[in-house]
Amino acid sequence: MIIKASPESISRAANHIRDGRLVAFPTETVYGLGANALDPKAVAGIFAMKQRPSFDPLIVHICRLDQLWELVTSRDERIIRLARHFWPGPLTLVLPKSQLVPDIVTSGLPDVAIRMPANDTALQLIEAAGVPLAAPSANRFGRLSPTRAQHVEKQLPDLEIILDGGSCSIGLESSVVRLEPDGFRILRHGAVTSPMLTEIIPPSKLTTSLTLSDASPGLMLSHYSPETKLYILGQHPIPNDTSKAAYIGLTPSEIKGYHSVRFLSENGNLEEAAGNLFFFLHELEDKWLDFIVVEAVPETGLGIAIMDRLRKAAYRFHHSTNE
Ligand code: TXA
Ligand code: MG
Repeated sequence: MIIKASPESISRAANHIRDGRLVAFPTETVYGLGANALDPKAVAGIFAMKQRPSFDPLIVHICRLDQLWELVTSRDERIIRLARHFWPGPLTLVLPKSQLVPDIVTSGLPDVAIRMPANDTALQLIEAAGVPLAAPSANRFGRLSPTRAQHVEKQLPDLEIILDGGSCSIGLESSVVRLEPDGFRILRHGAVTSPMLTEIIPPSKLTTSLTLSDASPGLMLSHYSPETKLYILGQHPIPNDTSKAAYIGLTPSEIKGYHSVRFLSENGNLEEAAGNLFFFLHELEDKWLDFIVVEAVPETGLGIAIMDRLRKAAYRFHHSTNE
């Protein structure tokens, strides 16, 4: 059930968390499906509700820096620099976990992913619950991430509490970053980009490219996918009949022959585009059109994360197997 975020509803949601139950809550990136990160049974509930495979680890959300030191064993001084600069915000750090973190949270891995979200409702909920929250995006596994409370309800209608904090200001999942002795590795692209990280923690060796063997366990080729077939303009051949199809362009231009047309940004601003992408995909998949065509965006800054999500969202429609 959707409940507007207020001091009363947050306190009710915090009791729910302490009881070992699940609560969906807003963050600046996407809505999360939260449970007490220190309670393995509660965390198991997240995997069950999302139908998420147990090999895909969860992000732990904190509201104060001192919570971090209980959850990780590393005292790398770069953590402080990154935290001071980017937290609260869309940066998730992958660090060696302490014994306090149950194995189910990290899918048995020795590292735990942690972030402090930049959203008052999220921070107040974590504070009131008195425990860190394990929270993946609040969607069914592999589907579109929710950027509105209504998106959560559409996919997870059985949830007792969905705290409504309006639309997510960023609208794309956080950057997931692993610290390495010589630098860092971006496991998932997001609003905190490689140049932004390099400015705060200059690597002694460039290690920012992904190789498959050390990719993040949850990063699959198919992910973030709408119900409706998705085509990327210039990358997939588009069917001729577009009369029952939708078109999503980057900036306004004259697009003819489509049932619905949307533009991600008035002036090509990639932050604005990122904020609208999942929103438009949710809206258009609800119309049960034949297919959706999306323009590719320039792969600079946030454009890298946008194209990463688009490729994964389109993947299952153009390949017969889920690799
Ligand atoms: O913006 C976000 O990060 C949102 C909000 C709710 O905070 N959360 C989110 O969670 O996107 P989720 O579960 O949808 O994606 C988390 C991803 C995993 O799929 C995995 O790729 C990576 O984070 N991850 C989590 N723990 C990890 C670990 N121990 N090692 C490597 N990668 C990890
Ligand atoms: Mg997700």
